[in-house]
Amino acid sequence: MNVILEKLGKIGIVPVIKIDDVEKAVPLAKALAAGGIPCAEITFRTAQGEDAIRRIAAGAPEVLVGAGTVLTTDQVDRAVSAGAQFIVSPGFNPQVVAHCLQKGIPVTPGCANPSDIEQALEFGLEAVKFFPAEQAGGLDYIKAVSAPYPGLQFIPTGGINAGNIARYIAFDKVLACGGSWMAGADLINAGEFEKITALSREAVLALLGFSVAHIGINTGGYEKAAQAAVLFNSLFGFAIKEGNNSTFAGDALELVKTTAPGTHGHIAIATNSITRAIAHLERGGVTFDHANAKKDPRGNVCAIYLKDEILGFAVHLVQ
Ligand code: 3PG
Repeated sequence: MNVILEKLGKIGIVPVIKIDDVEKAVPLAKALAAGGIPCAEITFRTAQGEDAIRRIAAGAPEVLVGAGTVLTTDQVDRAVSAGAQFIVSPGFNPQVVAHCLQKGIPVTPGCANPSDIEQALEFGLEAVKFFPAEQAGGLDYIKAVSAPYPGLQFIPTGGINAGNIARYIAFDKVLACGGSWMAGADLINAGEFEKITALSREAVLALLGFSVAHIGINTGGYEKAAQAAVLFNSLFGFAIKEGNNSTFAGDALELVKTTAPGTHGHIAIATNSITRAIAHLERGGVTFDHANAKKDPRGNVCAIYLKDEILGFAVHLVQ
């Protein structure tokens, strides 16, 4: 997949932004990034869009900036020379798509039915915007309409928010979700950048859906693990489940019998999207033990340890 689209996919959220005052562009981009979303689709819905892209490209280079609501080939040219790294349009305009391909800039045109999608495939596109997502039928519609097109990825946009993003992102043909809910024009115009950061963080956490899956305790051997499992079972009724290296008491307590990571044990954190979780945490400075990541039969990472322990516990993510 195109490297910019791949980056968008790892971020998982594409904020759709309307800028009325160019002075707000860089603080807005930094506010999104501080909340964990280093990406912005600046729309050409206002005359300030082009200059806002230019300012973000120069003043917040850590943010992947693209142009949205691009309706003409002239706007493509202006967006690209301002520094846009991707182009989004609400509908499928063959002239705009052809022009983007000719200029070598990734484009995700809005597609809302099989005819739009087949035009996109005709142009060799790997991903399209699905717009307006909720109003056009939501996730069920995307699942149905995408069934004949196995290779294509979607960026649903329109009516997505922190309450429904996790459902969308769980579908493997969803590359990312777009929307304006974390950075509406009112918030930007009022300079409410802390609020934008807080809403962005809320969106990222909703997408990743972190929770404690289980806690592994290094018991020091088979006998101690068995004794502890019996104790938890007799006190609390947690069902005993024997594994090769551990005995589980209920789903949340793993009594480790053999040598395992962590001074005292390990904590398993579940996430909706391990690839995006790794990318998100790495952007924040966390390092992972990639060499020993566990992969599923399709080669996708399904469990990975953080390099550092927390309070003597190794920590791993699990999908
Ligand atoms: C868009 O242009 O992509 C939409 O306006 C974004 O939809 P939302 O405002 O419902 O998030």
